[in-house]
Amino acid sequence: MPKPTLWTENGRVFIIDQTRLPLEYVVEEIHSVEQMWSAIRALRVRGAPAIGIAGALGVWVAIRDADAKTTEDLLVIVEKSSEYLAAARPTAVNLFWALERIKKHALQNASLPPDEFKKTILALAEKMIEEDNEVCLALGRYGASLLKSGDRVLTHCNAGSLATAQFGTALAAVYYAVEREKKRIEVFADETRPLLQGARLTTWELSEAGIPVTLICDNMAADVMRRGWVNAVFVGTDRTVRNGDVANKIGTYGLAVLAKYHGIPFYVAAPLSSIDLSLSSGDEIPIEQREAEEVTHIAGHRIAPEKINVYNPAFDVTPHELVTAIITEKGIVCPPYSETLPALFKLDPHS
Ligand code: MRU
Repeated sequence: MPKPTLWTENGRVFIIDQTRLPLEYVVEEIHSVEQMWSAIRALRVRGAPAIGIAGALGVWVAIRDADAKTTEDLLVIVEKSSEYLAAARPTAVNLFWALERIKKHALQNASLPPDEFKKTILALAEKMIEEDNEVCLALGRYGASLLKSGDRVLTHCNAGSLATAQFGTALAAVYYAVEREKKRIEVFADETRPLLQGARLTTWELSEAGIPVTLICDNMAADVMRRGWVNAVFVGTDRTVRNGDVANKIGTYGLAVLAKYHGIPFYVAAPLSSIDLSLSSGDEIPIEQREAEEVTHIAGHRIAPEKINVYNPAFDVTPHELVTAIITEKGIVCPPYSETLPALFKLDPHS
């Protein structure tokens, strides 16, 4: 079973520092909301569902240590720390989803005495961890139904255990197929430039789980598809909108085009917390632009000349026409997504 990515112990908050993997396994205790903001911003905790939970835990840390005498004062801290944490990263909608849930819960419990109020915020953040585990297991069960023994899956970035509380989104399908259904599945992992989440994280966690994985550079995906080595592409998403357009790690769009050309199904695993029905098309998704150094340097070493222009979007948008199906915890949906995605929310208690 994968190790948890972030967790609590008697109100203390811990994350795995993902920037140190795979060379070192380092646990970081979060002591302040500022430290959580920087952990999210610097990708020490990353992946859409994990970022959402990290946001909720960040608010907990802010009120836990606050020198507030009244619940009214604590409510102000909930509001301010949520606003602050929401500015850490713009694309993964899970962060806003989790912070909205915490704020709503805080307002609903505003009549509690301060100590009880604090406890109920922690309880909700911990519940989000439990729910995430259940959601990921459901994604795994549905996703595995799309795989048969002997299949080879291509994935991009990291949509495994490290991107969630524990069980992953897109890779949950692979874990489930292998561990529970005893299917033989192999994975090709794109290295995922510039920050190499595929090379550093996906290969690490699949190896830990005993699942055969082959690392390829991003520019090798076409070749392995052309050779007939890929039966399906499975990716996660940071935000999927009403018409089924999918924001995910930069490079995902190119893979979807390649998959279409080669007649390979392209599946997206999307918990409902990553689906944003308030946006009607992918053009409206805010795409995070990151520092030039992530492209001009690798592991702290400059690999490009100084004073050049750099374009470094963290995500791209895959048009819905290229998405074969979207796997959610409520089932697998197919086009037309503008009808099938909203229908899922009629069943969701948090919508
Ligand atoms: O910039 P990151 O590492 O947070 O990006 C993560 C991804 O793009 C994942 O594929 C995505 O969060 C979906 S899977 C949980």
